Amino acid sequence: MKTKDRVLKLLKENTGKYLSGQSIADTIFVTRASVWKAIKSLESEGYEIDAVTNKGYRLRRACDLVDSDFIREQLLAYGIDMPVVYYDEIDSTNEAAIRYARENRGNAVFIADTQTNGRGRRGRSFYSPKTTGLYMSILIHPDCRIKRMTDITAMAACAVAGSIDELIFDGRDVTKIKWVNDIFINDKKVSGILTEAFTSLEDEENSYIVIGIGVNIFAPKEDFPKELREIAGTVTEGLIYESGTIRNELTISIVKKLFNYCQNSSENNCLTLYRQKSLLDGNYVKINKFTGDYDYAYVTGIGDDYHLHVRYENGKEGELSSGEVSVVKY
Ligand code: BTN
Repeated sequence: MKTKDRVLKLLKENTGKYLSGQSIADTIFVTRASVWKAIKSLESEGYEIDAVTNKGYRLRRACDLVDSDFIREQLLAYGIDMPVVYYDEIDSTNEAAIRYARENRGNAVFIADTQTNGRGRRGRSFYSPKTTGLYMSILIHPDCRIKRMTDITAMAACAVAGSIDELIFDGRDVTKIKWVNDIFINDKKVSGILTEAFTSLEDEENSYIVIGIGVNIFAPKEDFPKELREIAGTVTEGLIYESGTIRNELTISIVKKLFNYCQNSSENNCLTLYRQKSLLDGNYVKINKFTGDYDYAYVTGIGDDYHLHVRYENGKEGELSSGEVSVVKY
């Protein structure tokens, strides 16, 4: 581990507390000059570090620590045995998962501190600034009985929404799911999910699914880009939330819940939660036909297969298996 990373680890472990340059140097067996150099380098990467004479250094705001060994151990204790791979920076964790799947068999989790080419649905990009969000992909080879892609997509949405409620809001029902799999809080999107499936015609056993999950946890240092400001939110908005381990906790909870839903898919407790959290029920929506044209309809509910049930303006009933809709405000 580089000196800079060891200094950062120490500061993160002592978030909020001042550590003198000498005590840092003694703990990691380097000179004070190396500590100073490491601090400068961390500051240039955007870490906000207070430096006070006679006190030392401290991270200004709780920096969230991702500990892949801890995540792996916790999942293992729950009976889920899979590698957890962490990157300081990667193009996209979905891409990392796909590259891994081409070379390896088996499930795995990929987490990044930042993504340079985070991907969203329909070819959009996903804004992934450093340290303020959870960017993760879960690679699964579905030996569990998943019949449809919409099922796994909905299960991921329930796992994310349920985990945010439990870990950030003490179990209160705060999150909403906007069909198909966007998570909203107070009309702002706080999480998006991109599910990709790969089937090998020659080797059916090597079919796999990559579930990419992005959660905005803290406000980005430079705020969201202009085009996202009206629509994007964070799960900690308005809260003083400084656990320092929320990305670990969210990852563990999301993976556990997802595996639970997959293994007990017949019990359908995901469907109940999905319906309870459905943002669109009872709303008028605009349905993007991706032809430059839109349909308008009233949402009547979610079907057993997670299809969106609607009533069109001409009174006809219909259902959508996939697509993109937005609420029409009158
Ligand atoms: C969307 O809202 O359109 C889906 C966004 C999915 C973003 C996540 S972040 C982790 C994973 N890696 C990616 O490149 N995309 C997904």
